[in-house]
Amino acid sequence: MFPSTLLFFFVIFLQKYVSLASDPDPVQDFCISSIGYSSANTDHCKNSSTATVEDFVFSGIKLAGKFGPTGLSATSVNSNIFPGLNTLGMSFVRADFEVGGVNVPHFHPRATEIAFVLEGKVYSGFVDTNNKIFAKVIEKGEVMVFPKGLVHFQVNVGDTPATILGSFNSQNPGLQRIPTAVFGSGIKDELLEKAFGLSSKEVSKLKKRFASH
Ligand SMILES: *[C@@H]1O[C@H](CO)[C@@H](O)[C@H](O)[C@H]1NC(C)=O
Repeated sequence: MFPSTLLFFFVIFLQKYVSLASDPDPVQDFCISSIGYSSANTDHCKNSSTATVEDFVFSGIKLAGKFGPTGLSATSVNSNIFPGLNTLGMSFVRADFEVGGVNVPHFHPRATEIAFVLEGKVYSGFVDTNNKIFAKVIEKGEVMVFPKGLVHFQVNVGDTPATILGSFNSQNPGLQRIPTAVFGSGIKDELLEKAFGLSSKEVSKLKKRFASH
């Protein structure tokens, strides 16, 4: 075969592989990372005989974290901060909402999320690739699933604070917030003006507001 044909098949194979990819199955009981961060890389497991129960317990979400400007406090419990999750293909999040607090439209490139309302009343939804919206108010005790990679959002519509617990089928689901990705990443002004039908003044204002932090 010509090299270009080979390359073609390789690219097709790669696309297929990447589109089906999820976290790999573990090949040992667990793999507490020995290098401070986790990458689903089993070359860096600490010797399992030195593991203790503390490696499998995370105590950092007993309380809400610091609230951001939209009235949301979200603490991701992924393999980067909880090395015990390494190679296990799942992770967690605690999200607290002030009254009216918003979790801006965002997506997780590597995971489906299932979210449980622990307290409160939250308008919650996602948008599919046909731009159809699926959204409603969910209440204490209800769960909603956000399919992998789709844009989703939430706002506390109750008159008390709300808390949501979420779970992901990746040890490191990734998070991309639409406003910051678009206006806080350094995309050229001219492009954003055309894409959104905005004046250069409006684009500057949005860029200032969503400058990466
Ligand atoms: C892990 O530690 C045990 C006990 O110290 C030792 O016997 C074993 O060889 C170690 N395993 C590896 C892969 O280093």
